[in-house]
Amino acid sequence: MKNDIEKVLISEQELQEKVAAMGAQISRDFADKDPLFVGVLKGCFIFMADLIRGVEADCRMDFMAVSSYGRGTVSSGAVEIIKDLSVSIEGKHVLIIEDILDSGVTLSYLRGFLEQRKPASIRICTLFDKPARRRADIQADYVGFLCPDAFIVGYGLDFDERYRNLPYIGVLKPEVYA
Ligand code: IMP
Ligand code: MG
Repeated sequence: MKNDIEKVLISEQELQEKVAAMGAQISRDFADKDPLFVGVLKGCFIFMADLIRGVEADCRMDFMAVSSYGRGTVSSGAVEIIKDLSVSIEGKHVLIIEDILDSGVTLSYLRGFLEQRKPASIRICTLFDKPARRRADIQADYVGFLCPDAFIVGYGLDFDERYRNLPYIGVLKPEVYA
């Protein structure tokens, strides 16, 4: 697994510090709002687990699963809902939690899908933003790191379902997915 990594982009320590700072900011912004955190599976799971332990505000959590990639490194453009929410979001302050905002196709579809259910607000929190490849008109409200135009794995992010368990963020060697 480690032989497939070109370089470590973000260390465990840097991840911890950034995620703690994001949790503190979210605590301030959502104090007394009784927010619902909506994690987008599967990529969010490690980030969200760390993030919410740094959130002091009262909050609830739910998850969705969507698919847009299949086995590849470029979004196919078609988004499919694989798992929907199990609670109502009407009148609620929703914070969507994503691993990475790339073309933006997934999040712009998801935001539109959830807006139809009349939440009080929808905000977006992503650990990584890769603006170089944006195709949809969407911005995140909370961004951990800007990501270079490379394919990254680890800390929940996968290629073909692998590498999620790396404790750091690494750049995948292009020959692995070429
Ligand atoms: P988008 O619809 O192109 O914004 O795709 C977002 C999704 O693509 C993310 O939730 C990730 O699952 C996946 N993704 C995009 N870029 C990367 C990457 O560099 N590494 C791992 N997954 C990625
Ligand atoms: Mg993925």
